[in-house]
Amino acid sequence: MILHLEQRLVKRATLGNIRELRTVPDLIDFASNDYLGLARLYRKWEGNCGSTGSRLLTGNTAFAEDLEDQIAQFHGYEAGLLFNCGYMANLGLISTIGSSNSTLLFDSHIHASMRDGIRLSSAKGLPFRHNDLEHLENRLRQCNGNCFICIESIYSTDGSIAPLPAIADLACLYEACLIVDEAHAVGVMGPQGRGLVAEHHLGSQVFAQVVTFGKALGAYGAIVLGSDTLKAALVNFATPFIYTTAPPLSILSAIKDSYNRFPMMEKERAHLRRLMNICGTKTPILGLPIGGNEKAKQASKVLQEKGFDVRPLLSPTVQRGREVLRITLHAFNKEKELYHLCRELSSLESALK
Ligand SMILES: Cc1ncc(COP(=O)(O)O)c(C=O)c1O
Repeated sequence: MILHLEQRLVKRATLGNIRELRTVPDLIDFASNDYLGLARLYRKWEGNCGSTGSRLLTGNTAFAEDLEDQIAQFHGYEAGLLFNCGYMANLGLISTIGSSNSTLLFDSHIHASMRDGIRLSSAKGLPFRHNDLEHLENRLRQCNGNCFICIESIYSTDGSIAPLPAIADLACLYEACLIVDEAHAVGVMGPQGRGLVAEHHLGSQVFAQVVTFGKALGAYGAIVLGSDTLKAALVNFATPFIYTTAPPLSILSAIKDSYNRFPMMEKERAHLRRLMNICGTKTPILGLPIGGNEKAKQASKVLQEKGFDVRPLLSPTVQRGREVLRITLHAFNKEKELYHLCRELSSLESALK
């Protein structure tokens, strides 16, 4: 299935311009972008420091490579490639995998970063109705060439969950590659917070998984997990990876620290599940339909005046008519705060009718 990626890599290698990540010993620097020497000053302070260049030039470190291996191993994948953020990870991944005879099938609720990746890709993008297996199967029947299915495991706008096992079965049946964005699941769901792909033991059926570090992990950045071939293809063709300054050591350290911590945070996950039970939801995201931008803004303002930080998701971020008040639950929210919020929400509901 990923033969075309291998072929592109082989072609690159034959042309003699394959890109590979390298680390070099401490040499006299005539390569980095650290024009004023500030990054080395910060490095001495062991504080925040710039990485001085892209991963393919002076920004690569053994620390970054080890971190990629550690995270890939934790999630059960052959390889991982760090990106500066989830937006760039999706943009790079989706724009790289397809070719002109591929089709990218995508759930109509997927994140803007995947949509932009589809726009940047030479492949044909085709949406299917949100979590609609029948519609997805119809689309799969129409696919020619390599076919990819792009989904989130937990959708960011309303907390809905993808029927992952059924989608993985369809991907297998139609020989399509499954791509799962686990931005809102890792840290929160699955064994040790490994996410929903792990909860359903689907790692071997997933072509690529995206994990972001700016949500439950409390850091910043993202990783694309998959095969060694996928990693090599991204290093060579994913422009949001190639043409940007590598994340600094301070961020990588925060990500590493988070991976040492969050797998053990069972008490926090249990409390979060209790809060989810109170709300009758299976994820920490609740999207309360509110009917229009103005009403959504007004509701959020009223709740903020009562001391609750609740934000609206407005169109065009969501489709017009799908505006919601988004409530996200956290391990540090207290039960009594949630009950209080629920009371405010029900009086708000009658006030806004
Ligand atoms: C599902 C999903 N994927 C990707 C991203 C982008 O991640 P980042 O904020 O790290 O760029 C987000 C962030 O809102 C998201 O909700």
